Amino acid sequence: MNLVVVSNRVSRGKANEPMTGGLAAALLPIVENSGAIWVGSSGRVRDGNQEPFAEIEALGVGALALLDLPAAHYGGYYEGFANSALWPAMHSRADLIRATREDYLSYREVNAFMARALLRFRKPDTAFWVQDYHFLALGAELRELSVTSPIGFFLHTPWPARNVFCGVPHALELIEAMLAYDLIGFQTEEDCENFLACVQHELDLPVHDGIILSRWGRTRAAVFPIGIDVDLFAQYAAKSATHPEVSRLRKSLNGERLAIGVDRLDYSKGLVNRIRAFDQMWSDQPSLLRTASLLQIATPSRGAIEAYGNLQNEVAKLVSDVNGRHGEIDWTPIRYLNKGFAQAVLAGLYRTAQVGVVTPLQDGMNLVAKEYVAAQNPADPGVLVLSKFAGAANELDAALLVNPHDIDGMARTIATALTMPLTERRMRWEAMMTKLRRGTIQQWFANFIEELQETQPDKSEMPELMSDRTALWPRRPAQAGARIH
Ligand code: F6P
Repeated sequence: MNLVVVSNRVSRGKANEPMTGGLAAALLPIVENSGAIWVGSSGRVRDGNQEPFAEIEALGVGALALLDLPAAHYGGYYEGFANSALWPAMHSRADLIRATREDYLSYREVNAFMARALLRFRKPDTAFWVQDYHFLALGAELRELSVTSPIGFFLHTPWPARNVFCGVPHALELIEAMLAYDLIGFQTEEDCENFLACVQHELDLPVHDGIILSRWGRTRAAVFPIGIDVDLFAQYAAKSATHPEVSRLRKSLNGERLAIGVDRLDYSKGLVNRIRAFDQMWSDQPSLLRTASLLQIATPSRGAIEAYGNLQNEVAKLVSDVNGRHGEIDWTPIRYLNKGFAQAVLAGLYRTAQVGVVTPLQDGMNLVAKEYVAAQNPADPGVLVLSKFAGAANELDAALLVNPHDIDGMARTIATALTMPLTERRMRWEAMMTKLRRGTIQQWFANFIEELQETQPDKSEMPELMSDRTALWPRRPAQAGARIH
């Protein structure tokens, strides 16, 4: 089988270069080793109605195809519909949903553009695997172009409660378009159930054992929790001690204990509450002043969107207040860095920190949590403090689980983590490593592709359902049975 993987952001695969986001980092080893073609945005745009242009380069035994997206639609697609309507909705922040009709049209245009671009990678045995909320309608656009190959989709974010997703303009058209996929993968059972509830109650379609029957044919929805390359990360960490940035960090600590947070600067990551919890901890437990500090790496993200600009200001001010209040002439409580680090360096920073703090308000999986665990020294592992609202909490239940809205509770738990005895740290770490080894990125990839190959034939076996393939959008009004916004 010839596999084409599609995502908005791709990674060029250099271990010594910073990487933004879990998806790009996670997909890298599987594309490098599987021979897949990975198609995504080049980060550049092009004017006019030109044919899709892709620059192709080798990536391990696979290849990377970088596509210039249409200039007229890029803003409406990326900053607009994807990140100002879908992202807040997926993270249950309906209050932040902002989208115009133009944004939606641009989102659909970019999905249609990507579908046209993918045709050049199609061979008789090609399967497509589309990633994430940027391309909910790409499968439908491919079917419009008469593609009958297997098409899978994986959502890296949560899928929210029905009422929240329905707050997205054109929500029902999008859910309906998603049913053009043969297999839809989610991070957790809850995400999958929320999605199926939307299909059943909003589109009035029958659902049995995760199988949905629609005018597109048969779609299976299932859970595939994403993992990491555990051995690779552990190797990075073991080799990292000599890395200049890692050894500089070590030297600067003077025996002080360190907690680390590594996040995109995003409102879903719970940064404000986390910093408030540290503030509270230092106020409640003065013995931790000068003996325990926080290194918070917060990579700027989507800065052109108002909610992100506001958050950047809020976090910077809060860090400065806390440092002003608890700091000393020779001690800074929070080291706050707005830049990214390469995976190999991050692994060393994780290993240097006695506590990893991963406290999102909502998160699909959160691979930082898994990376922190994989990077630890088996003889003297650190402790993971993990939000119960991250998908990773389902597997990493041996972490110290916290409610990221409960500042007092988080303050107490971080203090417990900083002072946990070695025996308990090892017991918890070993339990988490066992889980990580059971669900690596390689297994995630293999499981999804195996199921995708099994789910497909039904589309061609259901000609009566396929006879009316006209998309709901943008060329015709709503059809009976589907309530359209
Ligand atoms: O769904 C999660 C994800 O794809 C992450 O991999 C990444 O953190 C984010 O969404 C996308 O971020 P960006 O807008 O920077 O590509």
